[in-house]
Amino acid sequence: MSTHPRESVDVSRDAGVTGPVDRPRRAWVEVDLGVVAANTRRLVQLARPARLMAVVKADGYGHGARAVARAALDAGAEALGVATTPEGVALRAAGIRAPILVLGIEGAAEPLEALVAADLTATVTTRAFAQRLADEAARQQRRVRVHLKVETGMGRLGVLPEEAPALARWIASVSSLELEGVYSHLATADEEDPSYLREQAYRFRAACEAIEAAGVAVPVRHLANTAGLLAAPELRYDMVRVGLGLYGYYPADHLRGRVALRPALRVMAAVAEVRRLPAGSGISYGRTHVLTRPSTVATR
Ligand SMILES: Cc1ncc(COP(=O)(O)O)c(C=O)c1O
Repeated sequence: MSTHPRESVDVSRDAGVTGPVDRPRRAWVEVDLGVVAANTRRLVQLARPARLMAVVKADGYGHGARAVARAALDAGAEALGVATTPEGVALRAAGIRAPILVLGIEGAAEPLEALVAADLTATVTTRAFAQRLADEAARQQRRVRVHLKVETGMGRLGVLPEEAPALARWIASVSSLELEGVYSHLATADEEDPSYLREQAYRFRAACEAIEAAGVAVPVRHLANTAGLLAAPELRYDMVRVGLGLYGYYPADHLRGRVALRPALRVMAAVAEVRRLPAGSGISYGRTHVLTRPSTVATR
């Protein structure tokens, strides 16, 4: 039996329906937090001995970040990943104390005060950003945990591998910064052909080795998202960053066999009318579906 409540969200408001708040609901989504917990437990087991970071950005992929974060942490996740500082601050305001990594980068004009004050862990990819972070942490007389993101083939955020050792060394030399992790992000782990995944994994390993050869310890290395964990569990390093899988989705059909996951979200609608229709009846605009046999049709 699930120990987690079902959360339901009324979506009829978003569909433009207005009316008294206590009107009967016409359509809503239900998120089963017990399913989130069960998915998390299975993924934690698969990731072991690596730790699992539950990625709850974009309001927990639309499932409700706070509720998903709590369910995933209770089920064995040890850290959370968000896209932005405000997402992390909202989780802190809800009383969540687990480590929270901000996966995105704050723009040059954005203040870093809240990130530091909320004890969030920052992603760093440039010396300029690391300097701003160090200054803000010193101003608040705090130490900020930092994960250095290395570009290995996603072509988005990340310091170039050849520049990573120098940046890591600089971060490690600054007393208001704590270099806790080094990570990268996989671009094609959901594809059946693993060659590019292998290339990225090779570059990541080389970057970690070069950082260590520069005399900087790297306590937490992480590379795999859900697809990476399912496709190549040997690339789990010290931590995996799992989003999709928590919510019960597979990144690709060929990865279904690795672990049994169930979708946590269901779209529900109250039925307005039920009738029998004969075979051959077309249903809705453009005859989206044509009945192959006499059927009972429910309309909302
Ligand atoms: C940097 C990073 N790591 C991990 C994830 C989780 O990916 P997935 O939902 O495919 O598991 C994301 C999601 O966007 C991400 O941006």
